Order: sequence, then structure tokens, then C-alpha cells
Amino acid sequence: MWKIFKMNKIVIVQLAMMLVLVSSCEPVKKSKPILPEATTGRQVVNFNRDWRFARRNHPGAEAPKFDDSQWEKVRLPHDWAISGPFNPREDGYAGKLPWKGVGWYRKTFTLDKASKGRRVYFDFDGVMAFPKVYVNGKLAGEWDYGYMSFRVDATKYVKFGRKNVIAVRVNTTRHGTRWYPGAGIYRKVTMTICEPVHVAHWGTYITTPEVSDDSATVRVQTTVKNHLNKKSNIDVEVVLLDPNGQQITMGNKSDTIPAAGSDELDQSLVVANPQRWDITSPKLYTAKTIIHMGDKIVDTDISTFGIRTFKFTADDGFHLNGQRVQLYGVCLHHDQGPLGAAFYTRAMERQLEIMRDMGVNAIRTSHNPPAPELLDLCNRMGFVVWDECFDKWDATADRIKSGPPLEEHAEKQLRNLVMRDRNHPCVVVWSIGNEIGNQPRTREGKSPERVKFMSDFVRKYDPTRPVGMACNVPETANQPILDALDLTGWNYGRHYDRYRKRYPDRPIIYSESASALSTRGFYELPFPELKTQYSEKTQVDSYDLNAAPWADIPDAEFQLMKKDNFVAGEFVWTGFDYLGEPTPFSHDARSSYFGIVDLCGIPKDRFYLYRSYWQPDVTTIHILPHWNWPDRVGKNVPVFVYTNGDSAELFLNGKSLGSRTKGELPEKPVNFAQGKPASASSSQSNMGNIAANASDADSITRWCAADGIAEQWWQVDLGEAQPIRYLGIGFEWEARRYGYEIKISGDQSTWQTIATKSTSMRRNSRWSFHEVDVQARYVRIEFTELRSGTWASIREFVAYPEKVESDYYAVTYKYRMRWNDVIYEPGELKVVAYKDGKEIGQAIMRTADKPAKIQLTPDRTKLSASGEDLCYILVEALDEKGTLFPLANNLIRFKIDGPAEIAGIGNGNPLSLEPFQADYRKLFYGKAMLILRMTEGQGGKVHVTAESDGLTSADVTLQSRPASLCCK
Ligand code: GAL
Repeated sequence: MWKIFKMNKIVIVQLAMMLVLVSSCEPVKKSKPILPEATTGRQVVNFNRDWRFARRNHPGAEAPKFDDSQWEKVRLPHDWAISGPFNPREDGYAGKLPWKGVGWYRKTFTLDKASKGRRVYFDFDGVMAFPKVYVNGKLAGEWDYGYMSFRVDATKYVKFGRKNVIAVRVNTTRHGTRWYPGAGIYRKVTMTICEPVHVAHWGTYITTPEVSDDSATVRVQTTVKNHLNKKSNIDVEVVLLDPNGQQITMGNKSDTIPAAGSDELDQSLVVANPQRWDITSPKLYTAKTIIHMGDKIVDTDISTFGIRTFKFTADDGFHLNGQRVQLYGVCLHHDQGPLGAAFYTRAMERQLEIMRDMGVNAIRTSHNPPAPELLDLCNRMGFVVWDECFDKWDATADRIKSGPPLEEHAEKQLRNLVMRDRNHPCVVVWSIGNEIGNQPRTREGKSPERVKFMSDFVRKYDPTRPVGMACNVPETANQPILDALDLTGWNYGRHYDRYRKRYPDRPIIYSESASALSTRGFYELPFPELKTQYSEKTQVDSYDLNAAPWADIPDAEFQLMKKDNFVAGEFVWTGFDYLGEPTPFSHDARSSYFGIVDLCGIPKDRFYLYRSYWQPDVTTIHILPHWNWPDRVGKNVPVFVYTNGDSAELFLNGKSLGSRTKGELPEKPVNFAQGKPASASSSQSNMGNIAANASDADSITRWCAADGIAEQWWQVDLGEAQPIRYLGIGFEWEARRYGYEIKISGDQSTWQTIATKSTSMRRNSRWSFHEVDVQARYVRIEFTELRSGTWASIREFVAYPEKVESDYYAVTYKYRMRWNDVIYEPGELKVVAYKDGKEIGQAIMRTADKPAKIQLTPDRTKLSASGEDLCYILVEALDEKGTLFPLANNLIRFKIDGPAEIAGIGNGNPLSLEPFQADYRKLFYGKAMLILRMTEGQGGKVHVTAESDGLTSADVTLQSRPASLCCK
């Protein structure tokens, strides 16, 4: 009888739930609903559709009667700035896009009369920035930090059975940033309608305090809210489902929740033989928390969690489920290239698929909270995550001068971040910031107290994971500033060294590495002599020999991580190119050169270098550069091969150019200065920084003058007159800080100046090289100028009879195979790669004839008509025989027939100011990317045509199917 009664109740609830909804809303699609929708007691509604938008301040636009009929119709996620136009005169730091300003969004919706008495909440995953949310003309809620998710309780302001208007005012004018932030409601919005007694927002907290092979204790803490003005007796049932969706255990607890109050319940359940969440096999469990009041289910909260153990150790890096795992990580900014900040789950999934293919197992959400779907994807795909709250603690965190004290602001943000993300098994570090200066020098900088209260806020909401931050100033280790952290991340240049010495028992992560630079498809010869010698063409050479002044080429970081295996691993800056921060062409370009993959997701050569080392068991054989060099016939074009093999043989038009083995260095001429006696005007001998250190072939040791005055010199006696063609000086700091003259002599009494250099402002590396043509026994460096704070000091001086590659690049021979002396002739390059003497495969690079046809390659052809599914179509120009023409820059025009529209278009060129939303694009080094968004509805065939003058057109047909039937 009771059962029948219960069933009837369920049907009633079901009917009520169906009535609740609202013409313009649709339920959030769940792949496998665990309970029939109607029994959950709450309705979560996708609120992305049918908004109106205006890009300017409209006083009074919150009023329900305001006329928005002329406003643009938009669908969320929406980034108003990505459509441009670019401002070519603006600095590139934030993408040259119009992200600054005020914008308004409005949407009309209806709530069913039968829902009266229920609660209505709006959940915003991210609004850039300072959103004010009005419901029916009243301010219902507001937020500041543009990257943080927040909830607005609209219950007081909504009308049931009537039309409602939600209006959101967005203001980015006071947002601080070092990259392109985007603008508007750029992540999803949901509306939740539920009974007055329900699980609080982010009110389910799941931990696994004990885990062994035989069993795991799963602790579920539930905060229940009671909005009624009388106390409520409830039963909280917790049901656990295994990774196959089978119910495995359940628990139950009763409680009385005070009127207009809340209470927390704590239940522990045991799971036998738990299946671990791991990088290689990310098993996920589900917890359903069901609130009963009498025989009625009033709410159901569904959470995903994982059972795993992990720890960061001081001496052996990161351990997951008892095994050491080297973190092969990348930092990712939040933008999605041509889509701007607008967050699409598929765009993120694709980024992660590309990163996974390269061997990545860890993501750093630099430098802000990600969209929550990023964490869902990482849970499902098996990535660990460094979840970062802030870049700095200033205007980049939307703390404005008159704003709240740091303590207040930080707790508010950290609370939301940690409560939102703490059930995700992928999250293994909470980060409270990135490269924050120290107080008092940096006003909003860090101090021991600030680091402590920040860390304690995090622990208050989740004591189970370490708190860290990314640091960059080694000297910070001299003060107790970082003492409250559980671990530290260090960015670049082995900056963790000093900290490690002082805190040998603290775990360390290399939170930013590399910052290597390249443009996909662009090669320039001869090679740069230094990592900081960049092309004049405002593109960066793709032989992967350039890096930012403070940074290093990938190989140097591979070697470092191998040596320092107490470090948990590296997070490369960055996996993908992003909008803004176009170092080293900060003014000219609008997007970065740091990415291993370009802005629209096409791998650069570097991708294969990482893949060859991070995926040693997956075959990679990649040749660079392209083989179309009409101007260099008979001249040198070096060839590199990136492979997981250990040796390889290269053939040009069938002729062997010899074999290479990883780790074999080419012979180098003798350095005349090595081990030769040196003297100096003065030396810091008491510190051991004597003159001989600068000719001892060890660039760690150095000569340093005894005091800081500029007139100092250092000299070496080469023993006899030597024919010198190439000189190099490795300084203690960047070479730009030193002005000097290089003089030579045969007798030490008459000196001839052969080179001079003054100080400069331009960032560069520590080395400075000079091509000369002299015969000399004595070489002297006379310092003429020193930038403030710099002393005369040399780590290493070298003198060669011919031009040689800097020792800095010696490490490349360990990870790449290089044929430096190839003389170009058109035709076919072939490489055969071997591992342990066995052939693992071959790769071919051919000279292309002139471009003849277009090729379209979609990433998927079956798509969901959800309104949010995307198709990425690679566009290429091929010659008649089907070889990619690597220099093509043809303008391609697109036509789309069927239920889809262009969401974005790009080609990976950091300088391009063509719009990201257009139906045309020039190819860049042979390629471009078209991104289509499937229209919401019944779907259908989508026909895409690409045309270009002088090229044979191409077309492709996609199938979009109703979201309920689809598909990946
Ligand atoms: C780091 C910084 C990053 C990015 C990077 C570029 O110092 O943390 O946000 O600016 O440099 O190399």
C-alpha cells in the first residue's frame, strides 16, 4: 500500500515538475540520467538561450518594461569583444580587441504558477566582470571577480505564473589583466528551481579518508538548507553507484533542520574493492543525496567523485595511488582562440584531446578558476589539475582600489572556488596566486600573514589537498613568506634551487617551464645564435631554438626535470597559443607565440618534440622544416627530426645523408680560452669568484670584480697568437646590463679594440657573441658601463677559430636528431627511425608543386544539434598530387548550408587582424581552421563549401542530430 502511495506521489511530483517549466528553457542534458528527471525534486534549466544584448551602458535597462527589441539576439556563452574590430594601434597585451566597456544582457522567462513557494536560483559560471543581476527591475545579486562562479537567489524577486525579466549589467572597465580576458556572460548560466528544503549550493562534500585495495571509506557531508519558517524533519539518504552506474551501497540519517536555518549531516559508507581514479584509468563513482520529508522526495543532489590517494613528496615528486607519476603538464589560459573567452565544452574537450595525444597528464588553470566543465572533462579523461584562484591579488582579481580588504575579498573567492571544485578527483593542488611580489615593495603583494590567511581559507573549505602558489623570485626563500604553504611552485630557470636548499622537506613543482616561442610554419635561416635572437619578421622561427629571455627551450627543461627528480614535474607555458601577451612582439602582434599548438589548435613542430619525449612508447617521426625553398637551391637548409626512436637515417632524393643517434654531439672546434690563465683588475676572491672561473669551461662558476665600479677588466692569455673568428661572453645577468669593449694585444702593452657594446633596455640572454677576424694572444674585456645594481662579472668567455653554435644548444642533440649541413635540392626527404636497432617507421617530406586544390578535414562528422556542439574543420591548400603547399596564403571563402553557423575562424597567425567571425580567411602557411556551431533543434545535413580563386573548391557534409539522440 505504502509503495502504491509513494508511486502516486512520484507521479504528482513528476507532473508538477513538468509544469514548472517555462517556454524558453530546456533541461540540462545529462548523458545518463541516474534517476528519472522528475524524481530529483529539483529542476536545473539550461538558461543560455534567447538573450538580448547591447554593447553600451543603457541606464534603466534593468526595468522590466525597457524596450530591448532592437538589441542583438545572442545565445550564451557570449564574448562581446571577440568579433572585434582589432585596434592595430593598441599594444598586443590584451589581444587588441575591444574588451573594455559596459554591456547589458536581458532575457524574458515565465515560471509556472504551480511552482509558487519553490526557490529560484541563477548560477553563473563566469561573467567578465562586475556583474549586477536584476530580476524584475530589482538588484537580486552581484559579483566582482570575472573568473569566479556565483549564485544569485532570485526567489524574492520572481513572479510565478507571470512573465519575468532578468537583466545583467557587465562592466569590464575596472578589470585588470595581462592577457585577453573576454567580456560578457562567457560561461553558462543555469536556473535551478527547488523545494524550500534542499541541499545547499555546493553543499555536498565527498572525501575518501581511508583507501586500501580492499575497501574505501567514502565520507559524504551534506549541508541542508531550510527556507521554511518552521523546523523540518528530514531523512537524508546517500546512495553510491559504482563506475558502471550500479548501486553498491547506501546510508540514511535523520535530522531536524531549524526554521530558516541549515544543518550539516555526516555519513560514511564503505566501498569494497574500490576501483581507483587514475590518470590511465579514471574510474568515477556517483553519490546521490536524496532528501526526504515524510514520504516526499524534496531534493536530490548528484555528485561525481573518485577514489584515489595522492601525495606530493619532497624527494620523489608526485605519487598517485602509491606510484610515482612524473607530471607532464601544460598551463592553459581560459580563451579558446577564435571563440574568445566563450566557453564551449567541446572546445575544451578538443584541447584536452590534443594535449593527451602529446602525452600531457596535468593541467594548470593559469591563472584563474576554470569553467567547471574543464574539471568534469579532466575527471573523465584522467588529467590531474593545479586549480588556480588568482594571478595577482590586485585589479587582476577584480579588487579595485576602493574595494574590500584582501582578507574579505580572498575568502569570498576562495570559498566559491574550493566549494565548487572540491569533489573533483582531478584536483590535486589549490593555488592562491602566481608570481606575486613581496610586501612592502609590491603594495598588493605577499607577506607571511597574507599567505597564511589565504592558505587557511582554503583549508577551511578543504583540508585534504595541498595549498600552493607559483613563485618566481628565488630570494623569497630567504624570508618566511611561503611558510604557510604545503608546497611551492616555481616558474623558470631552476628558481627553486635556493628554496630547496633552505626547505629540503617541502615538495616542489616546476609550475611554469619553457616559455619557448615559435610560429607554426615559419622558418628562418641562418639559425639564431641565442635563444633571444628573434626574426625581424615579427614571427618566431619554428626550428625551436628561441625562448623568452627568462625562459628556455623545451630540451633544457626535459633535462632539468630528469636530473631534479625530486620535483613533481613541469607545467609548460603554454599548451596552446592564447590571445594577448605576444612576447617578443608585444606591440605588433595580438596573440602569443608560446603555445606548443597554435591559436586554432594546429600543432607546431614543438608538439612532436614533446610527444616524442612524453610518449616514449607511441611512434612519433616528424621532419622539419617543410621542403619548399626555391631561394635556397644549392644552399644549406638544416633538417631536424623529432622521434621517440633513438637513431635515424635521413635520405634526400634517395641519397643517404647519414645517421644520427640521440645524445651524440657533433664535433666542435677547440675553445682557445678553455683552461687558459686569466687575470682581472680586481676579484671577489674572498667569495671564490676569481678570474680563472671565467675560462674554466663551467658556466656555473664566475669571475666577479671586487667592487661595483664600472672601470674593471678581465683578460685571458691564450698562450700564443690564435686565429679568432668568434668570441662569446656569458655574463652573470642579462647581457643588456653590461657595456664593454673587447680589446686584443700581442704583448700586453698596445691594445686594439675589436668590438664594443653599450647597455640597452631590450631584454636578452646572458650571452653576447661577436664575429671577428683577428690573430691575438691576449683578449681583454673592459667594462665601460654597468646598469644599476650590476657588477662587472663573467661566467664564461669563449674564443673559437670559426663560428660555432652556442653550448646552450648542446642539449638539443639529446632530444632531437639534427642534420645541420644539408644542401637543399627539391624533391623528397625521407627519414627511417629506429629504436634499440629496430625500425619503428618512416616519414616523408616532399617539395610541393604550386597550390591546386582545397582540402577540408572535419574533426567529427556526426554532431549534436544542441546549440553548443562544435565542428572544427581543417582547411589546407594542396598541390595537384595532394602534397600540402606549406607557403600557401590563399584567401578562402566559405558557404554553410544547413542548421549550423560559423562560430569562429582562424589560421594561427599571431599578427593577423582579420576578424575571427567571418566567412573568409587567408591560409597561413598552408592552413586555416573553420569552427562551426550546430544550431539547436532537430538538426539535419550541414553542407560546407570552400572556394578560392585559382584553386579547386572542396566541400564536406556533416550530420547534425537532435541532442537527445546524439552522439559524439
Ligand atoms: C610568467 C607568468 C605567465 C606568463 C609567462 C610568459 O612569468 O607567470 O603568466 O606571463 O611568464 O613567459
